[in-house]
Amino acid sequence: MTLTRLSLTDFRNHAGADMAAASGIVALHGDNGAGKTNILEAISLLAPGRGLRRAPLADMVRDGAGGGFAIFAEVQSDPALPPVALGTGIEAAQPRRRIVRINGAAAAATALGDWLSLLWLTPAMDRLFVETAGNRRRFLDRLVLALEPRHAQHGNRYEAAMRARGKLLADPAAADAQWLTSLEAQLADHGAAIDAARQRTLAALSAELAEQPDAPFARPLLTLVDGDGAARTEPYAPDALRALFAARRRIDAAAGRATAGPHRDDLSALHAATGRAAARCSTGEQKAMLLSLVLAHGDCVARARGARPVLLLDEVAAHLDPSRRGALYERLAGQGGQAWLTGTEEGLFANMPGPVTRFRIAGGRIAAG
Ligand SMILES: Nc1ncnc2c1ncn2[C@@H]1O[C@H](COP(=O)(O)OP(=O)(O)O)[C@@H](O)[C@H]1O
Ligand SMILES: [Mg+2]
Repeated sequence: MTLTRLSLTDFRNHAGADMAAASGIVALHGDNGAGKTNILEAISLLAPGRGLRRAPLADMVRDGAGGGFAIFAEVQSDPALPPVALGTGIEAAQPRRRIVRINGAAAAATALGDWLSLLWLTPAMDRLFVETAGNRRRFLDRLVLALEPRHAQHGNRYEAAMRARGKLLADPAAADAQWLTSLEAQLADHGAAIDAARQRTLAALSAELAEQPDAPFARPLLTLVDGDGAARTEPYAPDALRALFAARRRIDAAAGRATAGPHRDDLSALHAATGRAAARCSTGEQKAMLLSLVLAHGDCVARARGARPVLLLDEVAAHLDPSRRGALYERLAGQGGQAWLTGTEEGLFANMPGPVTRFRIAGGRIAAG
């Protein structure tokens, strides 16, 4: 997939920007604070979810603009077909409501995944393996989403049912056994679908990673674990989940949250070459594992959907030594997908193989070159 055009209106420090890009590498260079990550964040909002900073929508409106913001892109997946037009943004009157348009028609954010599959790596993710399980779970769910767009819907419905169950459990006076049972049935059905999709993604990704060399980017071994860190071997059956939720009503009421279920699962990673837990590897090894994971995932998506996901690699190039950087560029250029890379030094993007679209970003202004 390729974003052939991206235009931003009043998005963060970009008052108005219009970029045309080709497939291959898109290199954004400019000083700190120029607005490079903001561009990647704008693209990340063309996927379901809250974008790569998980920031409130109202924060994204350009300071002093007063109104809303708009992001518009054309995505080419199949060269034989016209591009699809994706748009998102907010209006001043309803700053919490994300508007999504697909080919001009209003759509749900979950539908974006049908048209564009996206994945990103940012400096904030460097510590993904040592952070809270929630961040890893979100990362895992983005990997799944890029392969199976319906995953977002199951996730939204699961969370809605979980919130409603929590409210019922918190207020015994309102407790309605039938309503509770029906919410738990919804949780069980969507939870089993979420779990099955995660397992499929990890199986595909592990198979892909098994074929990749350990160098130059350290290969991770991935498994799904439960909230206590124990390997999840059997998929969740809807009936078993229903029984689990029913059995835990009192515990969950006391805890004020659902204490077990697929929303507690976690992604575990080992450094394949050394067998060491990712959290105990050096920062450099952890970054390399994430990079090889993301590259292998691109191969999975290409195989499954017939088109590569768009990759957003924020400040990734600067942290690689020249030979690894070269290997990354070779890999990105040789695939026919599109990868947006940022860096402060123009020289990071010199001598790249394949087609490159270059932009210089300065103070929210974008120029070719
Ligand atoms: N809503 C906003 N309106 C205007 N400027 C913003 C807004 N949000 C962030 N910024 C500015 O954007 C700049 C950071 O842009 P960023 O894309 O992170 O830079 P970099 O090029 O280093 O990646 C900062 O100067 C920040 O103050
Ligand atoms: Mg940045």
